[in-house]
Amino acid sequence: MMIETMKITVLGSGYVGLVTGVCFADKGHEVFCVDIDPEKVKTINNGKSPIYEPTLDEILKKNIKSGNIKAFLANDFYSKKIDTDISFICVPTPSNENGSINLGFIKSASLDLGNYIKNMKRYHVVVVKSTVVPGTTDSVVLPILEEQSKKKVGEDFGLCMNPEFLREGSAVGDFLNPDKIVLGSIDKKSGNILERVYEPWKKIPRIKTNLRTAEMIKYAQNSFLATKISFINEIANICQRVGVDAKDVSYAIGLDPRISPRFLRFGVGYGGSCFPKDVKALISTSEQVGYTPSLLKSVVEVNERQPLEALKMAENLKGKTVSILGLSFKPDTDDIRESPSIKLIEELQKHDTVIKAYDPKAVKNMKKLFPEIIYTDSPLESLKDSDVCFVMTEWKEIKELGPRDFLNSMRTPLVIDGRRVFNPEEKKKSGVVYKGIGYGLS
Ligand SMILES: NC(=O)c1ccc[n+]([C@@H]2O[C@H](COP(=O)([O-])OP(=O)(O)OC[C@H]3O[C@@H](n4cnc5c(N)ncnc54)[C@H](O)[C@@H]3O)[C@@H](O)[C@H]2O)c1
Repeated sequence: MMIETMKITVLGSGYVGLVTGVCFADKGHEVFCVDIDPEKVKTINNGKSPIYEPTLDEILKKNIKSGNIKAFLANDFYSKKIDTDISFICVPTPSNENGSINLGFIKSASLDLGNYIKNMKRYHVVVVKSTVVPGTTDSVVLPILEEQSKKKVGEDFGLCMNPEFLREGSAVGDFLNPDKIVLGSIDKKSGNILERVYEPWKKIPRIKTNLRTAEMIKYAQNSFLATKISFINEIANICQRVGVDAKDVSYAIGLDPRISPRFLRFGVGYGGSCFPKDVKALISTSEQVGYTPSLLKSVVEVNERQPLEALKMAENLKGKTVSILGLSFKPDTDDIRESPSIKLIEELQKHDTVIKAYDPKAVKNMKKLFPEIIYTDSPLESLKDSDVCFVMTEWKEIKELGPRDFLNSMRTPLVIDGRRVFNPEEKKKSGVVYKGIGYGLS
């Protein structure tokens, strides 16, 4: 399909920025990825993705080769004075200690962009793609851009908010086939320019709206999904105590189309770079405007308790050797941000245990947080001579472990299934002690 090619700057080359840049480039746009991390820039220009995402490497390599995408260190890019049509801000929006959103990266990216567009001849549109609480784009980003550029929004430059809904582990597929595209804009002209970037996604439903609504849609969606997970975790915790297998319950209720089976997997809780921080940021924003979001507060509370539900099942841990299978917050990603396994490791360390951990992709990241624990190259090595095993992420190679693997490797085969990957009924006579959240067995 022939599209009107646009020149696009993408600030931030992380999960969202790199996937956005690579997919726009693959659709024919000319993309300039800008980051402040020299290692990332070098890796990208060598045709390699600094993060693990299925198919990202291949598409990146192809587009580096064709010249559709190029990465720059921020200062180098701005000094080259390359004019583009549109910029996407994809920088982090982490939490402050109290759960409120930290807009430090957003403010500094807005300062950079304000200076960048100052002397630009063409009409440029700035798009916030990072997840930001309602009001950020018009009351934080906009004044910085105007102040720095000495230009006026709507006259000299445009402003949009275009939240991203990709999931890590299937980020490229999600970006290429989204269920919707939300186009928030300050005015029609900005919105139309943003829409031209998405020309190749013609068949995808669009929600054209204002900046604050676009910001709120993202929080409402993530909060709903997190609520679903905490809901089923609460049900699983009750099932556990009344002797009911929560799997049958979640399967049965999931058949009701009003509920649906998705996000009804119980276990050690949600993690990742989005749900934990986004729910907390919405709670904080809500409280700032005088409303107490009781439901969302409970969602967080249940989630923070879940890894401890698994821990309790191990009973006496003092001096034991513990195997942890799975470190990333979910399979098919190397991302460990807010992973339940972090909380588990911190708790285990209080019990004076020897920890042996395995993950097919996330060891490098976890080593930065816990250099002192033992990392193994295979699940069996991690199980060797251990007393307890915690299953924390449902990677394929972990799900495939059978009773024989645990019996042959572990000192005392006690498996605590934090993701309900094993079937407790089937395993009853195996000689391995299987326990797990929602198993309904004591
Ligand atoms: N990760 C996800 O699955 C996901 C999904 C949807 C939305 N989001 C949102 O997207 C935003 C980015 O998340 P992420 O996971 O991609 O973050 P990330 O930490 O993976 O990447 C952010 C990148 O921005 C770079 N950076 C920081 N300041 C910069 C600046 N001034 N100029 C250029 N680069 C800069 C960092 O070096 C880093 O490479 C967040 O608001 C997040 O909530 C993330």
